[in-house]
Amino acid sequence: MARRVHVFDTTLRDGEQVPGCQLNTEEKIEIALALEDLGVDIIEAGFPISSPGDFNSVVEVTKVLKNPVVCALSRAVEKDIDCAAEALKHARVSRIHTGIGSSDIHIKNKLRSTREKVIEQGVSAVKYAKKRVDQVEFFCEDAGRADLEFLARMVEAMIAAGADVINIPDTTGYSLPWKFGEMIKYLYENVPNIDKAIISAHCHNDLGLATANAISGLYNGAGQVECTINGIGERAGNTSLEEVVMTIKSHPSLGLETGINTKKLVPVSKLVSRLMRMPVQPNKAIVGKNAFAHSSGIHQDGVIKHRENYEIINPEEVGAEDSSIVLTARSGRAALSYRLEMLGYKLSKDELEIAYKQFLDMADRKKQIEDDDLKELMRESMFIK
Ligand code: KIV
Ligand code: ZN
Repeated sequence: MARRVHVFDTTLRDGEQVPGCQLNTEEKIEIALALEDLGVDIIEAGFPISSPGDFNSVVEVTKVLKNPVVCALSRAVEKDIDCAAEALKHARVSRIHTGIGSSDIHIKNKLRSTREKVIEQGVSAVKYAKKRVDQVEFFCEDAGRADLEFLARMVEAMIAAGADVINIPDTTGYSLPWKFGEMIKYLYENVPNIDKAIISAHCHNDLGLATANAISGLYNGAGQVECTINGIGERAGNTSLEEVVMTIKSHPSLGLETGINTKKLVPVSKLVSRLMRMPVQPNKAIVGKNAFAHSSGIHQDGVIKHRENYEIINPEEVGAEDSSIVLTARSGRAALSYRLEMLGYKLSKDELEIAYKQFLDMADRKKQIEDDDLKELMRESMFIK
């Protein structure tokens, strides 16, 4: 039986850290409701101490959500935790996400502290938060560059202090897929109380490996994955929710499953893109405009004969419009004839040959040929009435 993975969406917190993409409370509520409808298990609604606006957004989001756990970020300091707990007071199930640096780079150069002191500060934060909300998640910031033996000690101490979830973030997107997987495996093998908490994979995309790293973490035992819609987030972004969910669905051999209603993926992607004023790149996996578009002659011929020749996902499964056959100067006769037939023109072999030459001539001039161009081509053709 497949293992059910918890999907933790941080579009409204890590995703919203993208410059120029800040959301107001109404927009955050709209996205939170769409995420609930999508079936995410946990929604990280914001970082309440960061601004009065963000505090208010977290409060309002908790009021409208019925199912997901609502989470708020805090540093490992009491005033942040108090503020997050206050913002979460209407949540059906509340979670504080607190934490501190775990790599020596962060401990020395950012926190100007020591390994022992950060463990002490983390333990106090977990114990303090545990008294104020239903669940506590602890993040070991920059775990991707941390010393493994120290990371294991930190994780053990936070679980002993009462953390329900331990987040292992590759904060700087430095990890390699097998290394990230090995790190999770190492923790399972070396932290004596690991069975008392859920381990979470939180990956960034600085090397374009966020989804691969997250999948590797899940494959090696992580029970929660942290991601954002369209992969938005700091710098090169976070693990993309739609990629991780569809990788799990497309590969039953992983032995994993999520509770996501995949038919809602494209509509939610469009909503987030619109409200954050952040266009989705056309070649973005799953939700990009070209994710199901075929333009070269060989591929078009293959898709027309049998969709699965060139498609591993049925567009319907992710709520996308049907696959499209884009007509360009790289298209072949099969695609032209297919589109003409859809428009009601049935051509003989010889007529198609002539129409194809005229089509190529037009396509070299126009880059992409639309249905109206084809109709014009048919009207102007000497052979077709
Ligand atoms: O990337 C990161 O380390 C984070 C933490 C705050 C969880 O976003
Ligand atoms: Zn992050």
